[in-house]
Amino acid sequence: MLARLTAAVIAVIAAAVLIPEPRPDTVSATGRDAQIQRGRDLVWSIGCNDCHTPKKMGAAGPEPDESRLLSGHPEDPDMPAPPALPKGPWGIVVNMDLTAWSGPWGITYAQNLTPDENTGIGIWTEDMFVRALRTGRHMGVSRPIQPPMPWQVYGRLPDEDLKAIYAYLRSIPPVHNRVPVPVIVEEN
Ligand code: HEC
Repeated sequence: MLARLTAAVIAVIAAAVLIPEPRPDTVSATGRDAQIQRGRDLVWSIGCNDCHTPKKMGAAGPEPDESRLLSGHPEDPDMPAPPALPKGPWGIVVNMDLTAWSGPWGITYAQNLTPDENTGIGIWTEDMFVRALRTGRHMGVSRPIQPPMPWQVYGRLPDEDLKAIYAYLRSIPPVHNRVPVPVIVEEN
């Protein structure tokens, strides 16, 4: 009787140790892989590289330079100020990488979206990222995010897609690249 009881107790303890508790708030390893893959598909199909990845020349023209994937406008102390445009219908100036933009809102630079802790989004939480794209606020809480970052468009994606984009961005190599601070024209 005692032996049977002991065996039963051991079985219960073993089960508790060996069978992990289901944790609905965490994603399993395969779930995580699928989430990153989904994020990758989104990032590569809805244009993040167009503005956030510097370009290199390929056989068919400029293409994303994957060695600087999503690292934003390349820091360059010699970058000249944008040229002033004459009055007329042409209103926006952009560099050849499509990473630096000048328009009626001021001058903006595509941000470093790699997990670098000092110059990228390494210290951002998933919640900050989702809120930034939903509300158009820097880091989800502060100044309005300026054009041409199309947060109004991406903010319509369901939570799981925004979280998948965040998961993918966390999975790419960190690139140390300090994007210049924007010059924002104050609205009157
Ligand atoms: C048309 C160009 C363009 C495209 C396309 C674009 N971005 Fe941006 N993005 C920018 C610019 C420029 C900024 C900087 C805006 C500013 O400083 O206010 C920015 C800023 C950001 C920021 C920083 C927001 C903050 O809180 O400061 C995040 C995050 C971001 N983009 C994510 C993305 C993701 C993810 C995609 C693709 C789904 C994407 N962007 C596509 C141009 C673009």
